[in-house]
Amino acid sequence: MELEQLKDMMKIILKPSRYLHSIGVEEVSCDLACIYGYDTEKASIAGILHDCAKCLTDEQLVEECHRFQLPVKEVELGNKQLLHAKVGAVYVKHHYGIVDEDIINAIYYHTTGRPAMSLLEKIIYIADYIEPYRKPLQGMEKIRSTAYEDIDLAVFMIAESVLNYLQHTGALIDTLTVETYEYYETVIKNREMKEVCYGQF
Ligand SMILES: [Fe+2]
Ligand SMILES: [Fe+2]
Repeated sequence: MELEQLKDMMKIILKPSRYLHSIGVEEVSCDLACIYGYDTEKASIAGILHDCAKCLTDEQLVEECHRFQLPVKEVELGNKQLLHAKVGAVYVKHHYGIVDEDIINAIYYHTTGRPAMSLLEKIIYIADYIEPYRKPLQGMEKIRSTAYEDIDLAVFMIAESVLNYLQHTGALIDTLTVETYEYYETVIKNREMKEVCYGQF
């Protein structure tokens, strides 16, 4: 399916504010793909579709997980909307004919991230957080400018910000969110250590 067709479909199935968010994610994903050398069409498709299951109710999300035999973690039962990412990943295959594993994974992991993400996974993870139509969050401008210069540092900053927010609100935390934070903290620390030892090449 073409990008424009997918946009039209998202406009129909998502509520207006979610559609606008998806357009924002699509645009930022395309920009980041251009900067970091990824296929912009694929990035746009992943961006526009990333929340395609966000229109489902909690009950529908659980039902779809059972239907498609998707694993449901305890933390996801506590906050069922977390399931929209994995159900969305299955939906892009079944309803929109997407077979590209990188797009499917980028949608599956877009809320938690995961250690050692692919370039597209990082692009969608970041774009979901910094897209321009989202209500402004603390520290957003710094993260936004970093996103266009240092992709791993931007992932780390977002993971840190998400984790702080979840801890502050006392919400249940998916272990993958913590693993993402720890992994990218190590990536940044190791990089800094290398720079101290050998200087910047
Ligand atoms: Fe989402
Ligand atoms: Fe989103």
